[in-house]
Amino acid sequence: MDMLVIRGGNPLHGTIRVSGAKNSALPCMAAAILTEDAVTLENIPQVRDIETERKLLASMGAEVELCKGEEDLTTISCRTLSDPVAKYEIVKTMRASALVLGPLVARTGMARVAMPGGCAIGGRPIDLHIKGLETMGATITQEHGYLEARADRLRGTHLVFDKITVTGTEDLLMAAVLAEGETLMENCAREPEVSDLAALLTAMGAQIEGAGTSTIRVQGVTSLHGARHRINPDRIEAGTFLIAGAITGGDLVVADCNPNHLGAVIAKLRETGVCIDVIGPDAVRVRGGEKLRAADISTEEYPGFPTDMQAQYMALATKAEGVSLVRENIFENRFMHVQELVRMGADIKVDGSAATVRGPACLSAAAVMCSDLRASASLVLAALVADGESILDRVYHLDRGYERIEEKLRGVGAQIQRLGNLFAPAESE
Ligand code: EPZ
Repeated sequence: MDMLVIRGGNPLHGTIRVSGAKNSALPCMAAAILTEDAVTLENIPQVRDIETERKLLASMGAEVELCKGEEDLTTISCRTLSDPVAKYEIVKTMRASALVLGPLVARTGMARVAMPGGCAIGGRPIDLHIKGLETMGATITQEHGYLEARADRLRGTHLVFDKITVTGTEDLLMAAVLAEGETLMENCAREPEVSDLAALLTAMGAQIEGAGTSTIRVQGVTSLHGARHRINPDRIEAGTFLIAGAITGGDLVVADCNPNHLGAVIAKLRETGVCIDVIGPDAVRVRGGEKLRAADISTEEYPGFPTDMQAQYMALATKAEGVSLVRENIFENRFMHVQELVRMGADIKVDGSAATVRGPACLSAAAVMCSDLRASASLVLAALVADGESILDRVYHLDRGYERIEEKLRGVGAQIQRLGNLFAPAESE
């Protein structure tokens, strides 16, 4: 089991580079199912979830080459999908495997996908994915823990999402592009990852209007062709590094990012007194303030404050003067980092979906346990400023969504080492 050893107290200085967005790469890789031609993707991050998606696509008969050659290209060819089944042993390690459901039905007329089950942060149902496919004419049965969806050809429809769902929007967008007729989707997710997927699908020949807004209109086509597409930078990794610069009182340039995707995060960090300057189309400079001021957050769908940044922000709030109220409105159990932060000396009280953080607290190094991807990032941030040497266990959670994080942080002055071998066998999500 991998561990990270972090000695706190070093302000971070220099330039840290952001990788491609895991949550764009996953739907874009699944989109390759929609065509017999090869799809080539640039800027795919080398993280565990991408390896999981590679295994999933390969298990269905796809040929996948991850991050090869000088141009670091990922090529996926789904010419033959000999076994359109997303098996439980893969799906249990990554619930985003549900993203193959829509494209499989659209391309082959059939899909068998293991029900993802819950994960550390919540129940994570996919009822809205199922409901959307049924309104498009798919027949869906559930047995032995698997979903089976069938449709000769999906039909265009008018669907309104009961709740805003990112992968639900992506899954059904991929179903709609090959459906017969027009599909109008309302109450869609507006995350940049949806727009990134739509850009790829359009390059493949799909006819899509409104991606990135809450209303998306699709004219179905009979087939799609291959394309080459560059994945967006990871806005959550970028936000995590901005907080790393702030919490350590450093002076850090976060490069290869897209500042336009960081509006809510940048505004909130400025509210706490952090100096942040957008210094170019793909770079943001962060300088940790002497004194951090408490500021409340309430997680919302994009463009609101992202739930994927809640744990990281809470680490910063432990160092801010005053009381910060953190409301988690998206997932029902996304405070797994709280008890570990409290063990490091933070003063946090949880009451249902809200956490009250009192600061500034003197954080002291401790042996802590990672529980989910963003909770792990929160513990890294706390350890960077804690007094002494922290040991973070089960960092395979972190490796799901952060590429070589210890190398990147060491490159800007952090004292951080990995013990154990990368990509040791993971347990379920
Ligand atoms: C995506 O998950 C992201 N994952 C998550 O990032 C992110 O936290 C989440 O969106 C919210 O922004 C990927 O893109 C691969 P949702 P997703 O469907 O699509 C409920 C990370 O850390 N819901 O937008 O699964 C659901 O329970 C990960 O990188 C239903 O009720 O999230 C939740 O309460 C974690 N029925 C809310 O909607 C459904 O059919 C939003 O979930 C689908 C969702």
